[in-house]
Amino acid sequence: MHIQRVQLQQHGDDRGMLIALEKDRNVAFDIQRVYYLFATKHQVHRGQHAHRNLNQLAVVVRGSVTFLLDDGSGPVEVVLDDPSQGLLLGRMVWREMYDFSEDCVLMVLADQLYDPTDYITDYDEFLREVKNPLGDLAACQNG
Ligand code: TYD
Repeated sequence: MHIQRVQLQQHGDDRGMLIALEKDRNVAFDIQRVYYLFATKHQVHRGQHAHRNLNQLAVVVRGSVTFLLDDGSGPVEVVLDDPSQGLLLGRMVWREMYDFSEDCVLMVLADQLYDPTDYITDYDEFLREVKNPLGDLAACQNG
């Protein structure tokens, strides 16, 4: 699958570094929600779901984490360990996160408010929907 990394401009001087995230300037969607994960235990796997209609940008503000991403064509691992790099997560991408460093702070920007009904938490169901989106639409319309 196509991995979409975003290089974020750093504003650095002798005092340190600053990165700004702004709608449409370096975040290509309407930011509705920001959440962050921290104090994640090293052996934990998080995520393990896809979203039907959600775009997100993930930034590891501190530490490192590994993402497994799958758009239906097979899993790809991406390591995030640089606060100046974002990872775009589009709709219908299965994601898992693991190997969190002890100090990891993973910030996520999203273009929708939290909606549990947007989640697909079963991998086989994800594969069914991603491989047959029109079938699901038809099933929806037929009730
Ligand atoms: P969860 O979906 O399990 O996190 P992850 O997919 O990263 O493993 O979310 C943990 C809890 O936080 C769960 O009770 C739902 C809640 N939550 C919100 O209230 N708002 C949010 O924006 C998110 C992402 C989760």
